[in-house]
Amino acid sequence: MNIAIVGSGYVGLVTGVCLAHIGHRVICVDNDPEKVKKLRQGKVPIYEPGLEPLMLKYMKKKQLSFTTSIKEATQKATVIFIAVGTPSKKTGEADLTYVENVAREIALHIDSYKLIVEKSTVPAETGKRIERTIKMNLPKKFRQGGRINLEFDVASNPEFLREGSAVEDFMNPDRVVIGVESKRAENLLREVYKPLKTTIIVTNINSAEMIKHASNSFLATKISFINAISRVCDRVGADVLKVAEGMGFDKRIGRSFLDAGIGYGGSCFPKDVDAFIRLSEKSGYDFHLLKEVRHVNEQQKAAFIKHIEDKLWIVKNKTIGVLGLAFKPNTDDMRNAPAVDIIHMLQEEGAKIKAYDPQAMGNSKKILRGVQFCKDPYAAAKDSNCLLLLTEWPEFRALDFKKIRGLMEQPIIFDGRNLFHKYNLEEVGFEYYGIGRGK
Ligand code: UGA
Repeated sequence: MNIAIVGSGYVGLVTGVCLAHIGHRVICVDNDPEKVKKLRQGKVPIYEPGLEPLMLKYMKKKQLSFTTSIKEATQKATVIFIAVGTPSKKTGEADLTYVENVAREIALHIDSYKLIVEKSTVPAETGKRIERTIKMNLPKKFRQGGRINLEFDVASNPEFLREGSAVEDFMNPDRVVIGVESKRAENLLREVYKPLKTTIIVTNINSAEMIKHASNSFLATKISFINAISRVCDRVGADVLKVAEGMGFDKRIGRSFLDAGIGYGGSCFPKDVDAFIRLSEKSGYDFHLLKEVRHVNEQQKAAFIKHIEDKLWIVKNKTIGVLGLAFKPNTDDMRNAPAVDIIHMLQEEGAKIKAYDPQAMGNSKKILRGVQFCKDPYAAAKDSNCLLLLTEWPEFRALDFKKIRGLMEQPIIFDGRNLFHKYNLEEVGFEYYGIGRGK
């Protein structure tokens, strides 16, 4: 099929490359000419495992191309995905300016049947608004006498990809959700996803939009739940890792997303939880539960700092080494990374920060001031009064901790992701503090 993806950010680019991989001809659009230039040269602007080789392969096969022109994409494709950003307004509500702009521009260039699919995370009823925007902006020849004489459909197909494993997630999804209002739209989307052997959930547009909100909110709730449990574990001498294991074997609960830590971050959960709280409020429902989820998430960072203060005593003028900056491993994404708030809080208290991340140093330099960025984990540990693990990059497990202990001023580790084994580190002479491991 001929498919266009408008918006070549994280979701758009991964979706475009993967749709080419399952056999479609894809044209990706972005309004940033610099980005499109780089993409045409085969350069992927983000770090996502497995994405670049696939992109190059399908560019070579002429199944994947890039443009700045919505007109060109609209004319070439039958199915057009909208995957532009939906940033937060000050109120927490999603800002849909880009979605509206794209819908209007698509309308201006439609010349035959199109299926317009929203992929960006949007509030319920956005599909209806996209449809209305398109109707109102169709060229005059299609709007004669108040009647529309051009067929098109709008659908919702929310994205469930995780950064760091997005290609794998696309190829092996737990489910594909399609929200449609016509059989023609359903059949087209079924055709798009036919090569993926997975369950397809068909519903109306509003329910599909809600599935995305409910899923991300539920996952955030799971994380805040285990983080709240971790706080009690600290107080009563229980180990949250064992508690999560014991809970996780219950099939109704499941072990995933029960990793206690310094809280969830990234471009999705914080923004989506805010947006859903706001959406519920506007609809007349006060979603207290989600407000508490957000509150627990904030508290996790504050509790981590308090723990550091407790063990270091005086933070001012102490040197603190930081391992991991990205909001999660296998990405260079620093959006809403807990590391940013934690570093800011420590800097406010007068600590000197030395940091290392395998992929996110470039992005970190743009947002963190006064941090000494180090060439490797050992340089970050050198002369430090304590070491913080803020992102659970697997490679940190293989560090030479004897060497690190020798380099540090004081051998104290605060493991914000429960990556390390307490026993192993204590064996080589560290004071080790995890999250919810009993103090
Ligand atoms: C999340 C969802 O998992 C995807 O399904 C969804 O498509 C995406 O948002 C989106 O809406 O676009 P992502 O933000 O890439 O994906 O990353 P996650 O793996 O979900 O992690 C989010 C945050 O939660 C990270 O900071 C991670 O460290 C944290 N987390 C995750 C925990 O603290 N504990 C856990 O048990 C799991």
